[in-house]
Amino acid sequence: MNDTKKASERGGFGSKLGFILAAAGSAVGLGNIWRFPYLAAKYGGGVFLLIYIIFAVTFGFTLMLTEIAIGRSTGKSVIGAYKAVDKRFSFLGVLAAAIPALILPYYCVIGGWVLKYMTVFITNSGAEAAKAEYAGASPDVKLSFFEHFIGQLVQPSVFFIIFVLLTSVAVFIGVEKGIELVSKFLMPVLLILIVGIAIYTLTLDGAGEGLKYYLLPNTKDFTFSKLMRTIAAACGQLFYSMSIAMGIMVTYGSYMRKEDSLENSVRQIEIFDTAVAFLAGLIIVPAVFVFSGGDSSALNAGPGLMFITLPKVFSEMPAGGIIGSAFFILVALAALTSSISLMETVVAVVMEKFRLSRAKSCCIVIALTLALGMLSVLGYSSWSDVKIFGMQILDLFDFTTNNLMMPVLAFLTCILVGYIAKTKYIEEEVMYGEKRFRSKLLYSVMIKAVCPVCMIMILITPFVTEI
Ligand code: PFF
Repeated sequence: MNDTKKASERGGFGSKLGFILAAAGSAVGLGNIWRFPYLAAKYGGGVFLLIYIIFAVTFGFTLMLTEIAIGRSTGKSVIGAYKAVDKRFSFLGVLAAAIPALILPYYCVIGGWVLKYMTVFITNSGAEAAKAEYAGASPDVKLSFFEHFIGQLVQPSVFFIIFVLLTSVAVFIGVEKGIELVSKFLMPVLLILIVGIAIYTLTLDGAGEGLKYYLLPNTKDFTFSKLMRTIAAACGQLFYSMSIAMGIMVTYGSYMRKEDSLENSVRQIEIFDTAVAFLAGLIIVPAVFVFSGGDSSALNAGPGLMFITLPKVFSEMPAGGIIGSAFFILVALAALTSSISLMETVVAVVMEKFRLSRAKSCCIVIALTLALGMLSVLGYSSWSDVKIFGMQILDLFDFTTNNLMMPVLAFLTCILVGYIAKTKYIEEEVMYGEKRFRSKLLYSVMIKAVCPVCMIMILITPFVTEI
């Protein structure tokens, strides 16, 4: 394949807005909508919000800027990009390619669950999803709709496959005409939906109590150890939410135009991501509060909140059918733009490494995703007895990537940029079309000292809490 053909297959974003919306689309995902509200409610409301925002403008800013700058300066997929920065760090490219390849399958499985709930609500059977009377293994065991659904093989597989195929459409078409166009259309829709639902839930009777619980700093039983746990949780959430250390920002950065401002773009992506997370909290915390009679433990962790508690809330809420449908459409859109970015990162690697066309690379990645994703689907049905290190298959993929591989990649990226390639490398890229780098000092301190420490903290927290 000649070079011009290769470059046109690779593609690039046609506008700054297109880049920002695509990157924000990647960042805004399931993490914003169910993980953020639950963490904020658990870790002292306003205290968590404040710590999170401080982290976003310092730590999040630094890591995202670094990745986008590496991508833009090298113009390559992750494998080529890390190698181009320093040959000895080529292995980081392999790690950065493996992470999205492992996340994409299980993320699409969850995306399939969201599609299922979306169709259930749209077809007016939302009340079904709130029931907990499905037959279990023995007559006295009753399952929730969610447990009943994921315990099957056919339905979750079908929704998973549909979600993978939906994801692949934009990637197949390419960066400017596929990903950019889809993001420019879906992100405003997402914003309108989330603002609309938030306004509605805040008008519900009793929502004020939930709002106070969410926004006011609750320092009542705040010990030193709880403060530390809050800091670790905020740091981990930020990492998860901003799509950092998954190779995504390097890939999207490689498609960014040289003349656009890096610093401003990163700030805008951050604001978008944090605003959506904040708005999701405005929906979920008051809504759950109203319908659980002020019981904050109803805001539990994990899929239970989104797939068990919220359907119950919607079924009791006036106009719950419409709000439930709108909510699950919103979650589906958020998940879709994130999975598109995960798939694009892997496709870019396959295209570059094996010199294949976009179409062929897409087919390979789809096949790989379907194969790996089926393991997660089976993990809840036919293989539900299989536990590895006490974890279900999907949880194992999630834990290995989010808790182990991603902090390691981010830590080594900080070392690479802070001490080996030197911050000058990033500074030059930032200043490419701009006269100055406003946050230069902050950036330097963060990348050399604060970020590596945060990464170690994220890495050891799950083990320390275990002990
Ligand atoms: N940042 C996105 C979200 O908040 O959902 C996407 C994402 C996060 C994908 C974490 C995968 C993941 F492990």
